[in-house]
Amino acid sequence: MSEQRGFTLWFTGLSGSGKTAIAKVVEQELRDRNLRVERLDGDIVRQSLTRDLGFSKEDRDMNIERVTFVAKLLTRNGVAVLCSFISPYRARRAKSREEIGEFIEVFVECPLETLVERDVKGLYAKAIAGEIKNFTGVSDPYEEPENPEIVVHTAEETIEESVAKVLAYLEEKGYIPVG
Ligand code: ADX
Repeated sequence: MSEQRGFTLWFTGLSGSGKTAIAKVVEQELRDRNLRVERLDGDIVRQSLTRDLGFSKEDRDMNIERVTFVAKLLTRNGVAVLCSFISPYRARRAKSREEIGEFIEVFVECPLETLVERDVKGLYAKAIAGEIKNFTGVSDPYEEPENPEIVVHTAEETIEESVAKVLAYLEEKGYIPVG
C-alpha cells in the first residue's frame, strides 16, 4: 500500500499492565501487512532520549513532551507509531493528542491488586516497602482516560483479544486496510 495513513496509538496504563506486550504484537501484525511502524517504549526511550529524567511530575511530563515531538514527526510522514508510556497525567496526554492529531488513545486497564500480585518487574513490592518513591498507583497518581478510543482489560482478556480490539478499531476507522 503506497498511501499509508499515519497515526499514533498511545498506550497508557500502570506499570506492568501490558502496554508493551500488546504494542509488540500489534507492531508485528502491522509489519505483516507491510506497513511502516515505529514503536516508542518508556523503558527504552528512558535509556536514550530521556535518560536525564526521573519520575517527578515535571520529568514525566517532559518525557511525554519529547516523545510526542518524535511521534508527531513520524505520524505526519505516514508512519504507524506505537507509544507505550504510563503517561499518568490527563492534561499532558491531551496536549499530545492536540499536537499529534491522528491520536488513538488505548487505555490498558488492569486492577492494581492484580499488578501487585503479578509484580513482573518486582517494582510494586519495592514501592509498597517504600524503597521506590513516587511509584505510579502506589505513591503517585494515575489519572485514568475519560474518553479513550479503545479500552483493553488485561486482567480479563488475553493479549490476542486485546490486540484484536486494536486492529479492529484501526480497520473500522480506515487507518489500515482490512486484513
Ligand atoms: S512515565 O510516567 O514518564 O510515562 P514511563 O512509561 O516512561 O513513565 O516509564 C515507566 C517505567 O519506569 C515503569 O514501567 C518502571 O519500569 C519504571 N519506573 C521506575 N520508577 C518508577 C516510578 N517511580 N513510577 C513508575 N514507573 C517507574
